[in-house]
Amino acid sequence: MTQHYQITLLPGDGIGPEIMAVAADVLKVIAQKFNLQIEFKTALIGGAAIDATGEPLPKETLETCRQSDAVLLAAIGGYKWDNLPRHQRPETGLLGLRAGLGLFANLRPAKILPQLIDASSLKPEVVEGVDIMVVRELTGGIYFGQPKGIFTSETGEKRGVNTMVYSESEIDRIGKVAFETAQKRGKKLCSVDKANVLEVSQLWRDRITQLAPEYPDIELSHLYVDNAAMQLVRWPKQFDTIVTGNLFGDILSDAAAMLTGSIGMLPSASLGASGPGVFEPVHGSAPDIAGQDKANPLAQVLSVAMMLRYALDQPAAADMIEQAVLQVLDRGDRTGDIMSPGMKLLGCRAMGDALIEVLES
Ligand code: IPM
Ligand code: MG
Repeated sequence: MTQHYQITLLPGDGIGPEIMAVAADVLKVIAQKFNLQIEFKTALIGGAAIDATGEPLPKETLETCRQSDAVLLAAIGGYKWDNLPRHQRPETGLLGLRAGLGLFANLRPAKILPQLIDASSLKPEVVEGVDIMVVRELTGGIYFGQPKGIFTSETGEKRGVNTMVYSESEIDRIGKVAFETAQKRGKKLCSVDKANVLEVSQLWRDRITQLAPEYPDIELSHLYVDNAAMQLVRWPKQFDTIVTGNLFGDILSDAAAMLTGSIGMLPSASLGASGPGVFEPVHGSAPDIAGQDKANPLAQVLSVAMMLRYALDQPAAADMIEQAVLQVLDRGDRTGDIMSPGMKLLGCRAMGDALIEVLES
């Protein structure tokens, strides 16, 4: 039976359009193989949307996303838009998309591939076998808490304010996702907070602890975020699933990503209670190499695999993409970010062609 899907593509800025083109081509090949009928819609977000419409998340974009089965996002942002007022910044568009679709759970896997052990800046014995899933809360915490703003006091001095706030229900729902994620993995969950200093973190720790009896098969631990950052580079193999708030998750997921050698390899899924999820690389728009055909498209391609697995329930198609990525790496094909001596340096497009060649062979 043919399955029909509507997928919204958000290429965004910088290297976004280049890696999205590769990912869309890979998805088309997979669609043919698995008899999936996919209708693609492309919409504007970030700097590209600002240039075209004056806003980073036009209403039509959010509407198109809402009507689709899943959203594939590349990356947003660039020097050009860095000095605009905050409501017009590309990042505001991304945050608006997360909030608008209710995407409270962000899954960021960091798994080291044996082929890329030498690309890590850490010793092989430290990173070998690393397989971590960071579950980051994505629509709350200090990113969205009120009050926020730059306020001028009576003396004329300005004060910048953000508020880190979590309600019990927000903690519980991300906690449940994290426990369930851990159940499908190594059955170890580490909750990261700053409960020694922050009240919001104390509540976080209390609620996560209260959820634990519902998941007797999971070994729960807690770490303060500073210690967690240190442990991630000291002995990352101690971690299986990590759950944490928005800001800590932003920071720790970059650190976890780099264990694997390049942030250019890592996909992510952002999911809500219902409705379409957003699948995107963990990396940003890399404006320094944009338009030069140097970008690594593999995180975007692996985001397609995550989309097939989590949103479209096509695990075999997801497996095939992940296998193709391993095969091109086995052949020695590399983009600049994961290059090592003796390997073959490819551009973004050529890496896409290599994947398609493997998929069609
Ligand atoms: C990420 C990014 C975003 C974030 C930025 C671009 C708003 O760093 O997805 O990790 O801080 O969440
Ligand atoms: Mg980040």
